Amino acid sequence: MTATSVALIGANGHGMHHRRHVAEFAERGLVRLVALADTRPVVDPPEGVPVYTEHAALLAETKPEVVIVCTPPHTHLALTRDALRAGADVLLEKPPVLDRAEHDALLAEQDATGRVVQVGFQSLASPALVRLRAAVAAGELGTVRQISVLGCWRRDDAYWSRSPWSGRRTVDGRPSLDGALANPFAHAVMQTLAVLDAPVLRVEIDWLRVRPIEVEDTATLRVTLAGGARVLVAVTLAGEEHVDGELTVYGDRGVAELAFRSDLLRLPADPAAVLVEGRESLLENLLAHRATGAPLLSGLARTAAFTTVIEQLRVATPPYQVAPRALAVDGGHRTLVGVNAVLRRCAAEGALMNELSTPWGANGPDRTANG
Ligand SMILES: NC(=O)c1ccc[n+]([C@@H]2O[C@H](COP(=O)([O-])OP(=O)(O)OC[C@H]3O[C@@H](n4cnc5c(N)ncnc54)[C@H](O)[C@@H]3O)[C@@H](O)[C@H]2O)c1
Repeated sequence: MTATSVALIGANGHGMHHRRHVAEFAERGLVRLVALADTRPVVDPPEGVPVYTEHAALLAETKPEVVIVCTPPHTHLALTRDALRAGADVLLEKPPVLDRAEHDALLAEQDATGRVVQVGFQSLASPALVRLRAAVAAGELGTVRQISVLGCWRRDDAYWSRSPWSGRRTVDGRPSLDGALANPFAHAVMQTLAVLDAPVLRVEIDWLRVRPIEVEDTATLRVTLAGGARVLVAVTLAGEEHVDGELTVYGDRGVAELAFRSDLLRLPADPAAVLVEGRESLLENLLAHRATGAPLLSGLARTAAFTTVIEQLRVATPPYQVAPRALAVDGGHRTLVGVNAVLRRCAAEGALMNELSTPWGANGPDRTANG
């Protein structure tokens, strides 16, 4: 079998992870890295691999079969469209794009070129998700009424100044939305939506920030799906103790729990959580799709519900900033005191933060996305 030629656009930052992954695949003879492109100087470029500053020149001169796009979100549409038009299949980092018009434009471009886009939602490659969906389809939980996810992480000042688009709602006049929901917890949002894969009817949010950034670091998001089930995402980057990501599906006959990053799953009949093994990488799955027609795990069409939700974040009232007295500050870290308990209740009750009484409620102006 000939190794598939792969190019990477956006070679620094998370692009380093892709470089390592491609190198592993190259060792197995599955791919060969033909070029990198980055508008900034490339850190540690691999020997013998051409580096471009212009992605168009890379596409024209090296004609890769697969292009990985790992650049800031506001650049995704143009770069992915160009790669498809140049005849490549694309592994596009999440969030794919930031509104439905762009999402639909990319879907149309796939059809027109006959190429495919796999979106970098590794949570869709979870074998535990496949098992959970099968249990839901088999009626093991009864009718699903709520799917919630709780995540409490910590990100310090350095994180919020890591890149020119960090903490920004827009860059160069284009949306970039580097908040908790569209960036670090995008995988959680996507996975909750993928449990039922039902159309999105309504999006409500209440969100805030603990430092002077343009986006949310703490949020509750509620999505009403066709059929009546609700998704509740309760997440923070200013958390107390770490909660990696607890996804819970509430049905009228039982509850299922999934640790969304580690594939630990407990179905209603299980006495304890079980590790579901066999996670495939999205690049591996894309190569299998090209070779055998295997279905894409995170194809662009499947991620449309995520874009529908994210689009609503663009038009929502910006997150409010909590007063300093609600925070514990330790060096570059700011912790929102009491946030874990509030978010845990939101996840369990299907509530937005502003529907509960919060320890910091009296501190900030009552500005929420829903008025
Ligand atoms: N799947 C995941 O778990 C995961 C993790 C981290 C980041 N990401 C995603 O990866 C993408 C990149 O994030 P990052 O943290 O690496 O950002 P970054 O800003 O650290 O790096 C992006 C790189 O792209 C380059 N770039 C920007 N515009 C370009 C252009 N037009 N052509 C070529 N290069 C260009 C920048 O110079 C930079 O080197 C984002 O969409 C982000 O959400 C995904």
